[in-house]
Amino acid sequence: MTTARSLTIPLPDDWHLHLRSGEMMRAVLPWTTRHFGRAIVMPNLDPPVVTRADAVRYHSEITAALPDGVTFQPLMTLYMTERTEPGDVRAAFEAGDAVAVKLYPAGATTNSAAGVHDIETIYPVLETMEEIGMPFLVHGEVVDPDVDIFDREAVFIEKKLIPIRARFPALKIVFEHLTTSDGVEYVLSCDAYTAATITPHHLVINRNAMLVGGIKPHYYCLPVAKRERHRLALIEAATSGDARFFLGTDSAPHLDSAKESACGCAGIFNVANALGIVAQVFENKNALDHLEAFTSRNGPAFYDLPVSERSMTLIRHELPVPLPDKVDTARGRITIFDPKMDVYWDVGDVD
Ligand code: DOR
Ligand code: ZN
Repeated sequence: MTTARSLTIPLPDDWHLHLRSGEMMRAVLPWTTRHFGRAIVMPNLDPPVVTRADAVRYHSEITAALPDGVTFQPLMTLYMTERTEPGDVRAAFEAGDAVAVKLYPAGATTNSAAGVHDIETIYPVLETMEEIGMPFLVHGEVVDPDVDIFDREAVFIEKKLIPIRARFPALKIVFEHLTTSDGVEYVLSCDAYTAATITPHHLVINRNAMLVGGIKPHYYCLPVAKRERHRLALIEAATSGDARFFLGTDSAPHLDSAKESACGCAGIFNVANALGIVAQVFENKNALDHLEAFTSRNGPAFYDLPVSERSMTLIRHELPVPLPDKVDTARGRITIFDPKMDVYWDVGDVD
């Protein structure tokens, strides 16, 4: 008989999360606060969180929805537009009302219509961000109709990221939700001003999960999952312990009715089983000693925040653990990411 093993790590943070608002936010928030101490909250609401005042309002909405006694720190972000004011961004950062600004190329994904068409229009904002040390979070995909959707990330690096980096060498950039070996190689070629988040689902699925045996809308997200060799490169990066890679779930809830449709929404809701899945990926790669770097240390170091003083114990069971499969909300069901693999790890005590 083998005994269950356990692993205690500093309480993880989620460096890329969609919390939504209203009823949806209230339904999904407890899944995050159970397992994460802080989260970078994406600003792609409708309408988006553009100004400091928007971020303050959204922050109050989230904290008002926290049950008594729950300590969770939402880290707010601003949605970059072509009209974003450098002065407003500076004031938000200096007051602690926003920790980063997010770039959505216009048309790239959910609620990105107000995003950026011409990257050079935002250079004055980037100049301020570089000066004050405020991270610039990028959805790294081009949207040109003549670029194949599977090449959008690689083309973004060449056409957008390399010029931005050359112009602003000390701007902190987070390449969000990496999906390609090109992205991994790019980050590795940079210095410590460039980092990247990696999602649990991109560590687990390749594009077959979405397309083989019928179209599977619950595996559709953006950037879309790529070929197996890209997934393997992401696993290498995440499990390496390299300080430039950290966990961002990109958990993005949509009602099943919005995903199971002729034009289904992009987004995978995974936050409920994210840590068990990530621990399993690290175990399978024999890299559990690097797990806490990825989940709990590299992110705070990049954002100049302290590592959590709280802790989480992960339990390794002898048999695969049953994973939650759905959340019911007043407006309908949300399917939780099914990794289609055995997961023996589960979250135990959080102190
Ligand atoms: O799959 C995604 N869903 N990718 C994004 O970039 C946005 C997100 C959402 O908000 O649903
Ligand atoms: Zn996202």
